[in-house]
Formats: sequence, structure tokens, C-alpha cells
Amino acid sequence: MSSSSSIGISTVKPCCRILIGYRGSSIFGSHARSLDNPNSSKSHSKSIHNRGSYCSSSRISGRSSHCIVQRCIAHQPSSVVHGGRAFISSASASSNSIIRSRVSAAGFYADSGILRRRGVLLVPKVASDYRNQSTSVDNNHVNEKGFEQIYIQGGFNNVKPLVIEEIEKSGNSVVLNGSAVDLDYFKELNEKTTPQEKDERVASEIEKEAWKLLRAATVTYCGSPVGTVAANDPGDKQPLNYDQVFIRDFVPSALAFLLNGDAEIVKNFLLHTLQLQSWEKTVDCYSPGQGLMPASFKVRSVPLEGSEGEFEEVLDPDFGESAIGRVAPVDSGLWWIIMLRAYGKITGDYALQERVDVQTGISLILNLCLSDGFDMFPTLLVTDGSCMIDRRMGIHGHPLEIQALFYSALRCGREMLTVHDGTKNLVAAINKRLSALSFHMREYYWVDMKKINEIYRYKTEEYSTDAVNKFNIYPEQIPSWLVDWIPEEGGYFMGNLQPAHMDFRFFTLGNLWSIISSLGTREQNEGILDLIDTKWDDLVAHMPLKISYPAMEGEEWRIITGSDPKNTPWSYHNGGSWPTLLWQFTLACIKMERPELAQKAVSLAEQRLAADGWPEYYDTRGGRFIGKQSRNYQTWTIAGFLTSKMLLENPEKASLLFWDEDYELLETCVCALGVKASRKKCSRFAARSQDGA
Ligand code: GLC
Repeated sequence: MSSSSSIGISTVKPCCRILIGYRGSSIFGSHARSLDNPNSSKSHSKSIHNRGSYCSSSRISGRSSHCIVQRCIAHQPSSVVHGGRAFISSASASSNSIIRSRVSAAGFYADSGILRRRGVLLVPKVASDYRNQSTSVDNNHVNEKGFEQIYIQGGFNNVKPLVIEEIEKSGNSVVLNGSAVDLDYFKELNEKTTPQEKDERVASEIEKEAWKLLRAATVTYCGSPVGTVAANDPGDKQPLNYDQVFIRDFVPSALAFLLNGDAEIVKNFLLHTLQLQSWEKTVDCYSPGQGLMPASFKVRSVPLEGSEGEFEEVLDPDFGESAIGRVAPVDSGLWWIIMLRAYGKITGDYALQERVDVQTGISLILNLCLSDGFDMFPTLLVTDGSCMIDRRMGIHGHPLEIQALFYSALRCGREMLTVHDGTKNLVAAINKRLSALSFHMREYYWVDMKKINEIYRYKTEEYSTDAVNKFNIYPEQIPSWLVDWIPEEGGYFMGNLQPAHMDFRFFTLGNLWSIISSLGTREQNEGILDLIDTKWDDLVAHMPLKISYPAMEGEEWRIITGSDPKNTPWSYHNGGSWPTLLWQFTLACIKMERPELAQKAVSLAEQRLAADGWPEYYDTRGGRFIGKQSRNYQTWTIAGFLTSKMLLENPEKASLLFWDEDYELLETCVCALGVKASRKKCSRFAARSQDGA
């Protein structure tokens, strides 16, 4: 199946623009805020290219901040090659300069008078070798050596117009307009995506419907697909922001498209959201850190100034400044990095992640996460509602979901960052943090029968560096539900940990990503699946899977949620069941060689999702009712189902999306410093002995 939204250059809308923050990031690395020089990135303009467009920048005054308006006006100069999708912004242009961008098949070069180099040629070498070691099976690489490859979505059947100016042929590659093209790569790409091959897989009626709905949810910008709306519910009188493209919601859509051979929408999404990254948005005169990715964006059609009756499209991001509760989307940048890696792994198009603007985007996100603060722990300190659970739910502090995504993004970063003088400190910081973070999580967040028994007997008020009860947890905190609930076998990572506070609730997404990223040891990862299996009636029951368990009720609900009527017990984020968690469960099960468990969950969902109108979430303890305020035709429910199906059918593809234990990290384990008292042996060593390494 090919993308329904591939559009030739002739359909590009007349005018498109993007509002870019005044202090936008620089692109060719030289202005990136680095660990060496955190203040080095100041105001610079950015340009955006749209196929067949040129972009101009001018500054306007907003209510509380200045913005640069990037206007991309449809333009088809006869000598310009169309078909390339890369866009790169200016590095050293001053904030008012006008950049005219010309596009070539393999990249882009700017006519700013400052830059006359092809952006893709500026990366001196491929990213670190972690790429090759990161997954156990990785037979999908396509000509990794060259970063000048071109990925053409849909193979030759769906190729964009390409004007060839000159061709030189040598061996198995040709040089098109100055860019090397590996012919074997195209051959393989074409073979992978022939209609016959796709048709071999007979899609069920439900899958067919899901594909139709997923395609219908596609959002286009300047004629190109750039994402999917959160929900496409025709009955919804008050869509709020569900008509926007959410970064986190697009992840399963991206995977469904990628696994189906439709890479264009994902590439466009990654590049357009990259452009939004440093948009200066303020909440009452305060701006979030540079590198923050928006929670969502919307394509707006606005009247074109000076041209009556004409419209232009504008990308309008939301960094939380409009969101209910003004929640910070900490997870967005982490998801963006995870998606970028998945794009490379599945398509073999590593040229995208090697581009200098993309490298800068990765660095900005990770620098923001790694910047020093007041915190004592390697975990990320965030406010309530900064991830999928984007309402007050008592998860402020160091919630598991953020830590597991943070760990995954760090592993992605280590794989994708090109190592050179400008990044070596960042790479070193990533390695250090990975090591400290996994130690902390494995050691202190893990809950099982043995650990609860230890906590139950904890002494308190210990003042010393070798205290056993480091966080001064009062045993009375062990909730009564847990005493009966914890099984003899298996365990899980708790929801949160900070001074005198353990949140023992089970949060599904964080636990699944601990498995996927190998944040947990092999034994811990197996233990989580054992627990889900044993507690199936609590965590899955009629609809996979509970977002959190158990629900908060009574006084606890009143105090912790602030009497939130949407998060009443066993509803929405408070113990509701979210079908979008299915693809992550499937991935975790495939990794741990228990696909039958995932299959059982997928079959359950399949029986109900289409019939119920693809709800966002389900309510009640057993997930029997469609959620009280649930949208129908929720895109990540649909895409999550499709992705689960495809992963189960192509486990070798699934293996591109998870990580094995990183033995190098184990070597540099921080606990070599000595772990004392009752938990004598660091879980690192346990991991090593379990894996026989
Ligand atoms: C809700 C969810 C959030 C999701 C958004 C769009 O706010 O809590 O996780 O991204 O809807 O679907």
C-alpha cells in the first residue's frame, strides 16, 4: 500500500509559511548550545524549504516577543531540481537576512551568499558504531557507508518528479546532479515495496478499515503529508486540540507508515517539527528552554497579506502555552529522537540523521535534558502532566515514563550523533548519564516481593552515605493494595521516587519502555512481563492496557488530582485502559520472545476496537465501557493496532526498534564505587551473570 498523499510539485499550495522563534537554533552546529559553551546559541534566522519554494525571512513584532516570519512562496525555477525533500537552514546568516533556498535531489544548498555547500556534505563521517550494535538483528541496512543516498518513498512506482541535469556512471552507482546514488539501494528499495509483495499479506476487513481511517487522518502542509490528527471524530462537537498533530500520538502512525513502506510522511514530520523546535513561545513573559519540542502543531490557513482572496498555510505549534493546565511536553523531544532512529533503522536512510540541522536538533534536545540543575539524581525532574499523562495525576518529580523515554533517547543519541570536537563532550555526558540512570533505576525503582519485604523492615532517619534506606522511606507508605497484589514471581518499576516518597502505582508505558530500551536487566524485563501475565485481569481484562494501576479513589483522588472530573477512579489517566499501549506491549513481548502474550492482547482489541469506533480509552476496572469522555476514531488507537499487527507479522522489523543490554555501560558501572549493606550486589553484575557475559 502506498501513501495516498504523495503529491507532485504542481499541487504545492501557492504560499506557505512558518513562524520561527526569534532566538532560533543555528543549524550547521557552530551555534548549537553545547555542553562546552551553553550560551553560544543566540539569535539567528532559520529558513525552511518546501519543495519548489523559496523562503524569505522578515521580523515582525508579536504581543510579547518578536518573531521572524518565514514565508515560503511557490516557485518553480526551471533550472532547479525538484524531488529532494531535504531542507537545511542557514547557519551564520544574521537574523534579518533573506535566504533563498534551492533544492536538489540529495539535499539543498543555500544562496545566501554565505553558504554554498550542500548541507549533506558537511557531515564528515557517519555516526558512532553503536548503530550497528544496537539491535540484535539488523539486516535492513542499505548502503550505510554513504550519506549521500536518496530515499525515494514507494520506490520507482511513486517517485517524485526529478529533473536530471547531469549523470555520470561508475560501477554500481551514478552521480546525479553531483550527488552519488547507489543503484543497489534503489533496487532493494523497489523490491521491498512492490505491490505484489504488499498484496501477499491479506489484510483483514478491520485492518483495511484501519488503514482507510489512518490515511484519512493525514494532515498536509504545502501539499505534502506532515502528520496525522489526534482524532477524526465526526461526532465531536468540541474537538479542543484533538485536531492537531501531537508528537507523541504520531509515533505509532509513523511506525505504521514506515513498516508499510511509506516513509515520506515521517521524514516530512521529522523535518517540520525540527523547524518548530526553537520557536520562542512564552507563558506570561517566560520562555521554555531552547530545544524543547512542541506537544502538538496545527496547520492553519490564514489570509495572505496583500493578496485578497489568497491564503497561505502556517504551522502553529503548541509548547504547552495553550494546553489545558499549561503542561510542559517533556516527552516530545524524546519521542522525536526515538522516531528519528526508527526512521533510519527501518528505511536504511541514515542520511537524514546525519544532516547537520538534524544533528543540531538532537544535540539541542539532549543538551536541554542534560543541563545541570539542583537535582541530586540522574533521573529527570519534571512537573506533573509532562508526558502521555498530561493532567495532574501526582506524577511530578521523577516519573517512570519520562525516565524510560529519556534512557531510550539517550541510547538513540549515542547511536546517531556524529562524533567530532563539537559533540564529544555531549557524547561523553550521554555515556555517563546512561550508566548512572540505569544503575539508579535498576537499583531503586524496582519492586518485587523481596524488595517490598526489605522496605517493610526499613529503619528510618539514617544519616550517612551508606544508609540502607537512602530516601528515608517510611514503611507505612507501602499501600495495602500492594501487600496482597505483588506476586511471588516477577515485579515492576515503581512510578516515582524522591525523598520520603515512593509511588508504588504500576504505570504501563514506563514499564514497557524499560523492557524495550533495556533499561531493566534481563531478569527485570522478564519479571515485568511475568507480572502482566499473572495480573492479566487487572492490567488487561477486556481491553489492553491499563495506563496505571490501581486507580486513586476517595480522598486520595480528591487531593492528588485536585478533584479532576475527567480522572475519576478507573477512568482516563486514573486507571483507564488505552488501546494505544498495545503496540508498545507487542514490541516488548517480541523482544522478550513472548509474542503469544501480545497476540492474546491484540486479539482482544481486535474484537472490539472497530465495532466501538476506535475509542481513545476505556473506563471501569475491567475496561468494559468506552471512556466517558473518549473521542472516537482516535488516530493512535488505530495506528497502534496496525503497528501491533505488522510487528507480530514481521518480528525481524520489530528487532530494529528495541535495544539489547549494553555491555559497555556495564563495564563503566558507577556502582563499582561500592554498594553496601543489604543489596550487596549491583543489578549490573546480576545482568552480566544472567546473560552469561
Ligand atoms: C490527551 C492524552 C495525551 C494525548 C492527547 C492527544 O491529552 O492525555 O496523551 O497526546 O490527548 O491524543
